[in-house]
Amino acid sequence: MPELSQRVQTFTDSVIRRMTRIANRYGAINLSQGFPDFDPPMEVMDALEKVAHQGPHQYSITYGAKNLREAIAAKQSKYTGMPIDPETQVLVTCGSTEAMMSAMMTVCNPGDSVLVFSPFYENYGADAILCGANPIYIPLVPPTYQFDLALVEKGFQQGVKAIIVCNPSNPCGKVFSEAELLAIGNLALKYDAFVITDEVYEHIIYPPYHHVSMASLPGMFDHVITCNSLSKTYSITGWRLGYVIGSEEVISAAKKVHDFLTVGAAAPLQEAAVKGLELLDSYYQSLQKLYTQKRDFFLAGLDRIGLKHNEPQGTYFVLVDIQEFLDQEMFSGMSDLEFCEWMIREIGVAAVPGSSFFKEDVNHLIRFHFARQQETLEEALYRLEKLKNYKK
Ligand SMILES: Cc1ncc(COP(=O)(O)O)c(C=O)c1O
Repeated sequence: MPELSQRVQTFTDSVIRRMTRIANRYGAINLSQGFPDFDPPMEVMDALEKVAHQGPHQYSITYGAKNLREAIAAKQSKYTGMPIDPETQVLVTCGSTEAMMSAMMTVCNPGDSVLVFSPFYENYGADAILCGANPIYIPLVPPTYQFDLALVEKGFQQGVKAIIVCNPSNPCGKVFSEAELLAIGNLALKYDAFVITDEVYEHIIYPPYHHVSMASLPGMFDHVITCNSLSKTYSITGWRLGYVIGSEEVISAAKKVHDFLTVGAAAPLQEAAVKGLELLDSYYQSLQKLYTQKRDFFLAGLDRIGLKHNEPQGTYFVLVDIQEFLDQEMFSGMSDLEFCEWMIREIGVAAVPGSSFFKEDVNHLIRFHFARQQETLEEALYRLEKLKNYKK
């Protein structure tokens, strides 16, 4: 067989999504790949039913159906306070996954560098490789996941093209404060680099923390490319709908990348999703309340079992420390991946090994998500109780 490209030999499949496949094989409760096991809002499901009979069933405009772009611009203008032109500043993509890839392909030349905070969402490493960019990692330091601004500036001094900011941050649940965003933004302006943000968890945030959109900060709009998604906010991860917001110049270039990558997101789903974007404030308030209850319930359960964990400020993820298990003879020499595989088989709950998120050599953390119905979380905690038998 002729040789495959070097590109595909430099990264593996997604460990997150691999854990889902292993969980399915063993019938484990899947707290690895982050997606809800409950329904989207009724309005959105009803709209989908209607669309099945009324259409559209053919291609939408490549950069997104007009009514969806208008709905995105209206909703995001309202929540971020920045004016957004649906014609020139919005691009609808196949999930935020494509939004990030399109954004990076739009701004990076092969050989360019991009700053990435570590821990990071797994996709960014592969995104960088696919567009030929070199990631430079800046640590977010546990337990609070603070960063050293001097290190960020040192990174910018190496001539980077962009910095990626995931806010709220998967997997560590950090919510960047306005002061932190201003500091990063000022450096981006000083060194004339882009900020590419990933804001898919903007509405899954726990008081007193609140989300600030980098692009809404004074003077930042032209330097920021905002990647976002409908997956998490409306519990429709399988619909694959996301979007990019940016300046007219950036978006018109990103539209070309997107056009040839995917032509467009699914037209019937775009039509039905408009109903989600039109939901009232009360929807976002109840989403926040729902996830706050789930977070409190799941973390209290982890505490009862005696599992050490961080306190997520946003997202539906929590990192659990498994060092006390790895220190024991029966687990000795195990990687976090092997521990997760053991946990799927023996405990019946799936998590993601932390090493897939950290540039640093981190082997003692695993990530759970709690976007699950109450009964599923109860059953997961019941099963996790068995871990007590493996503690000293
Ligand atoms: C931080 C982050 N960005 C992007 C995505 C992917 O979103 P989408 O379903 O819109 O592609 C995820 C999914 O887990 C995520 O956690």
